[in-house]
Amino acid sequence: MTGAAAVPVIETRGLTKRYRGGQLAVDGLDLTVPGGSVFGFLGPNGSGKTTTIRMLMGLIAPTSGTASVLGRPMPGAARTVLPHVGALIEGPALYGFLSGRDNLVRYDRADPTADPRTRGARVGDALDRVGLAAAGGKKARAYSLGMKQRLGLAAALLRPRRLLVLDEPTNGLDPQGMREIRTLVRELAAEGTTVFLSSHLLDEIEQVCTHAAVMARGRLLTQGPVTELAAGTRGRLAVTTPDPADAARVLAEHGVTGLTLDGDRVRADAPPVSVELSELNAALVKSGVRVRSFGVERASLEDAFVALTGEGFDVAG
Ligand SMILES: Nc1ncnc2c1ncn2[C@@H]1O[C@H](COP(=O)(O)OP(=O)(O)OP(=O)(O)O)[C@@H](O)[C@H]1O
Ligand SMILES: [Mg+2]
Repeated sequence: MTGAAAVPVIETRGLTKRYRGGQLAVDGLDLTVPGGSVFGFLGPNGSGKTTTIRMLMGLIAPTSGTASVLGRPMPGAARTVLPHVGALIEGPALYGFLSGRDNLVRYDRADPTADPRTRGARVGDALDRVGLAAAGGKKARAYSLGMKQRLGLAAALLRPRRLLVLDEPTNGLDPQGMREIRTLVRELAAEGTTVFLSSHLLDEIEQVCTHAAVMARGRLLTQGPVTELAAGTRGRLAVTTPDPADAARVLAEHGVTGLTLDGDRVRADAPPVSVELSELNAALVKSGVRVRSFGVERASLEDAFVALTGEGFDVAG
């Protein structure tokens, strides 16, 4: 097991894509996805996630650099690699006039290694796993966005895979659907499948991923275990009080920076270690601020992102 984990399932070196219009969508990407990980590929809209995934799956050629998937070069080894990879990429190709179930039958039939005698069972299991068992008979054109997304995922799950590449798998899903996909991803990981999923939702990555890479404007900002990414960032001071304005003033007077107010919550950069938290709390109380809660929150991936980029999680121009 330790040997297997040492071989990256995806590895890129200097991977670069410049589109014909001149847009540099991916810029010198060095990505390492360890075997057995649930790897979150995180970045705002337009940061190059789908472009990277298309190169990894051999759908478009890189301008320069290399990519390997399951230890083989892409796109060169696509024919031997892709049967072991399930992929869900933006807007799965579906036949609207066929039912969800028959779309999956078509996908399964296109796989020369799939035994026709067990086709029905495979399709049924895949529908079941994504929560479409009851809607399997409905025409795909009558599916909602979330249902189409689920059907695309079911297609990726028809066979056991060593790697699943999911581009924004929860796009279009309601909160319940998002929870179901998270549970499914955890199950697949427990079965030994490496899952590489892109998202622009920090929350989602934190909840389900063991590792993450953060992209911005086509460049990799950082990658590693999620716990380490967040741990490298200072947490946030959080105070709950019915007197937020007074609290902010007192904190500012004590040198606290990065203050934000939201209802009865005041948040700020965690003070340097030289500042005793209990003294800060005492100062608030002494100034007549009614403190309901006071403490330093663990840094989130979002804090790490803001610390890395010095900006919020917005679309690049
Ligand atoms: N076919 C294309 N031709 C030219 N430019 C493109 C093409 N596809 C994407 N781009 C540009 O490349 C950049 C990266 O796009 P990409 O789709 O990879 O981003 P993304 O991270 O997947 O974004 P999103 O979160 O919105 O899906 C963007 O600036 C986009 O406008
Ligand atoms: Mg995309």
